[in-house]
Amino acid sequence: MQITDAGIEQYIDQHTSPASGILHKIERETYVKSIYPRMLSGKVQGKFLRMVSNMIKPTNILEVGTFTGYSAVSLAEGLGNNGRLYTIEINEELKLQNEAYFEEADMADKIVAYFGNALDIIPQLGIQFDLVFIDADKINYCRYYELCMDKVKTGGFILADNVLWSGKVLMEKISKTDKDTLAVKKFNELVQNDKRVENVMIPLRDGLTLIQKIC
Ligand SMILES: C[S@@+](CC[C@H](N)C(=O)[O-])C[C@H]1O[C@@H](n2cnc3c(N)ncnc32)[C@H](O)[C@@H]1O
Repeated sequence: MQITDAGIEQYIDQHTSPASGILHKIERETYVKSIYPRMLSGKVQGKFLRMVSNMIKPTNILEVGTFTGYSAVSLAEGLGNNGRLYTIEINEELKLQNEAYFEEADMADKIVAYFGNALDIIPQLGIQFDLVFIDADKINYCRYYELCMDKVKTGGFILADNVLWSGKVLMEKISKTDKDTLAVKKFNELVQNDKRVENVMIPLRDGLTLIQKIC
């Protein structure tokens, strides 16, 4: 199911400022080279991430799920002075491509890219984050959330992508084999019932939840 009408999507795109040159290049090349290009955030969500980042002016951002770096560059465009974005990607085949993009974006000194399993890497990070973007495999969303909550400052934010999962969250009967939909629903319930946070679900692209850690 498409969350928003295709015409509305087009209208939104036409009324959103253009992406920077490097983001345009990352998107174009991802569509040419990647098997799953739709995993990339894209222009509208990228612009939203950039603006959220720019409003917070974070010192430290954590991203779980780099892919080809589109959201990493978008978020890093809003970093405060001397800010850093730490991003984790399990697929090492993306390393050279991502390094080249971060270099071309003039962000090689601002973006620290880790390659490995985020479940192993997050607990090792001795950093407190102002903003976290969770955008990796859905099965582990609840685990990423709990690991990230330990690392987010009180007052800081977590953004989680794909929380509407193409509208499948509305299905009344979900097969036990549809582990992604079950995991996204479980994650949404976890956040909604978590007394440590305030949260708002936004119907942007595939659904984005903005969560603030209040205590
Ligand atoms: C939806 S894509 C990320 C898209 C990217 N944030 C963007 O907007 O352009 C999800 C990425 O998470 C990565 N991933 C999946 N499981 C992971 C894990 N356990 N640790 C780190 N990365 C993981 C995948 O390889 C994939 O590149």
